[in-house]
Amino acid sequence: CLSPELVHLHDLKNKIVVVVDIFRATSTMITGLANKVSSITPVAGLEACRNMKSKGYIIAGERNGQTAEGFELGNSPLSYLNNAYAGKKIAVTTTNGTLTIEKSKKDAAEVLIGAFLNLQATADYLIQQGKDVVIHCAGWKGMFNLEDSLYAGALVSVLANEFDFDCDGAIGMKALFEQNQGDLKSFLSQASHAKRLQNHNIDADIDFCLTLDKYNFVGKLEGEELVKVSLN
Ligand code: MLT
Repeated sequence: CLSPELVHLHDLKNKIVVVVDIFRATSTMITGLANKVSSITPVAGLEACRNMKSKGYIIAGERNGQTAEGFELGNSPLSYLNNAYAGKKIAVTTTNGTLTIEKSKKDAAEVLIGAFLNLQATADYLIQQGKDVVIHCAGWKGMFNLEDSLYAGALVSVLANEFDFDCDGAIGMKALFEQNQGDLKSFLSQASHAKRLQNHNIDADIDFCLTLDKYNFVGKLEGEELVKVSLN
C-alpha cells in the first residue's frame, strides 16, 4: 500500500505484511539484528518507549529525523555497526516506522521488516511461505514517500515471476525501480526525507540504507519483538 493513509482499505488477515521505512526505521532494525542485538522491540509512543529503560532496555527514539530528547540512541543504522550493542535489548520508537508496525500487527498473519539491506532474503521468504503479501509503506506522517514506494517496486520486481500483483501502484513502482536501480542514491537524493536528513548532516545513513542485499536474513515480528530468521 503505497499511500499509508489508505492501508485500512486492505484486508491484512491471512496475509504477510512487509513493513518498510527505508529512511531509516526498518533499515536500522535490520542492521541492529545483523549486529547481534539481543532483541528489538518497536514501540509506537515516546513515553511508552522511555519507560522501557527501567526494564533494562537500551532506548532509541527519533522524531522528525533527530534523536528524541532523553533517549540514548536516535535512529541511525550506523550506531549498531561493529556489534556495538551486541546482547542488548533495544526498545525503539520512530516518527512513522514503529507506528506502521503497530497498525500492521493487529491483523496480519505475519509482519516482516523490509529494507534494501535484506531485499532478496525477504523475497525468498515470501516465495517459501506462498501467502498473499501486502507491502505497507510507512511514508511520512501518513502520506506517500518515494523511498518506501521504490522499495515496494524493488520487491515486486524481484517477485515478478512468482506472484501476481493486483495493484497499479506496485506495477508503476516496479517500472520506476527498474529504471533507477543502477543509481538509487541519485534518484532518491530528491526524496523529501533524504533532504530532511541531509539538512541534519546525516548523509552517510542514506548511502547505507540504499545498500542492496548487505544482509541475508529476514526480520520478523514475533509477539512484541523483532527476531532474525535465517532461511534454510
Ligand atoms: C521514520 O520513522 O519515519 C523514520 O525512521 C525517521 C528517521 O529515522 O529519520
